[in-house]
Amino acid sequence: MSSRDIMEQIEGYGRIREEMLVCRKYGIDYTVEKGHTARLMGLLHPRAVRLRVGTVVRETATASTLRMVPVEGYLPPFQAGQYINLFVEKNGVRTSRPYSISSAPHQTGYYDLTVRRVENGFVSDMLLDSVKPGDEFESTSPAGNFYFNPLYHEKSMVCLAGGSGVTPFMSMIREITDRGLDRTVHLIYGSRAEDDIIFHEELKDRAARYGGFSYTPVISEPSKSCSELGGFITADLMRKVLRDTNSKTYYICGPSGMYEFCMPELEKIGIPERRVRREMFGPPRDITAEPGWPEAIRGTAEFRVSVRGGRTVKAKAGEPVLTALERSGIVVPALCRCGECSMCRMKLLSGKVFQPRGVLLRKSDRDSGYIHSCAAYPLTDLEIML
Ligand SMILES: Cc1cc2nc3c(=O)[nH]c(=O)nc-3n(C[C@H](O)[C@H](O)[C@H](O)COP(=O)(O)OP(=O)(O)OC[C@H]3O[C@@H](n4cnc5c(N)ncnc54)[C@H](O)[C@@H]3O)c2cc1C
Ligand code: FES
Repeated sequence: MSSRDIMEQIEGYGRIREEMLVCRKYGIDYTVEKGHTARLMGLLHPRAVRLRVGTVVRETATASTLRMVPVEGYLPPFQAGQYINLFVEKNGVRTSRPYSISSAPHQTGYYDLTVRRVENGFVSDMLLDSVKPGDEFESTSPAGNFYFNPLYHEKSMVCLAGGSGVTPFMSMIREITDRGLDRTVHLIYGSRAEDDIIFHEELKDRAARYGGFSYTPVISEPSKSCSELGGFITADLMRKVLRDTNSKTYYICGPSGMYEFCMPELEKIGIPERRVRREMFGPPRDITAEPGWPEAIRGTAEFRVSVRGGRTVKAKAGEPVLTALERSGIVVPALCRCGECSMCRMKLLSGKVFQPRGVLLRKSDRDSGYIHSCAAYPLTDLEIML
């Protein structure tokens, strides 16, 4: 089949060709709109966004909200549930971390980023301890697929959050309740202690004011005076608080272990995987505890990563290749830093890496030896091509 024949199969091709012929005949420039779509896309999804910290709001002892305003112009629009990747420089290392936007998309003047401290965290400590109003950052445009899609998802949403995983849901809940959207949400939010619950007062208030939103906090280590439900987000708990578990889309967001815990519980109440959407906040804290990790290799074991045509750097087995490269001053494009978006893809020329479950590597990439460096851990010396 010739390329012309193939084009003829495309709906509308004949009409467009006819229009071009007519334009040509009368000397009208049909290319005048050339580049218009690219310009529009550039406005909606600029490569980089410059942000200034407007205010800092302390939410709990371990979490604060940084209200980010544009340094100039406007902020690109986003879907409730998306994140931006924030670039930072610390001790001479340029790195980045994704943060979900916790404000609603209809608040076009700012992005709220609610950051929770991670013990010994490289970036969260810095964002919580040293960032002040007026500080400037660069970020990517909003990205990610963790949002409501009316074509595929039920209007009734069950959101299972753990710790800082409440942030994308906060954006969704604020949007749905403020704008009176035709959707219902039940948020089941697990925290270690009552003091750790982020947005607790606002969530209670919204649940009291809006019929379509209900809220169940669950505390794993409750104090004696705690009046909330104790324990974890189990099948029994979901049966009890949701009553009807059918005709709903389930969303899970939290630390990487949360999906592994919640999925079997959802299966117990008859929810198939296709009705579950997930977003995990980063790689596992201890990769060596993951199933399939070779017992003989300790997380502190050190290997050499040679970049073809470039430098050789040291890398610990317990740290993603991306982190080792950044630590040595090699900047690699990255977005999600959890193995999903493929922005940090690179070719593994020799050596072996460990890639935890959940890394969304295309089959063709796997077959051709590509890895997602944010979720690939060296098990031997490596040679890579950026
Ligand atoms: C899609 C998505 C959305 C997210 N949204 C949120 C959110 O809304 N709120 C939130 O709180 N979190 C969110 N996270 C998690 C967030 O991106 C970070 O993982 C989290 O803040 C921890 O980062 P950290 O740098 O403090 O810790 P880590 O990166 O886990 O650091 C752990 C250790 O690694 C070492 N290290 C790491 N990088 C380097 C480096 N480059 N150089 C030297 N040493 C290094 C440090 O020594 C440190 O001890 C999200 C994650 C994802 C994937
Ligand atoms: S940064 Fe998204 S897969 Fe690595």
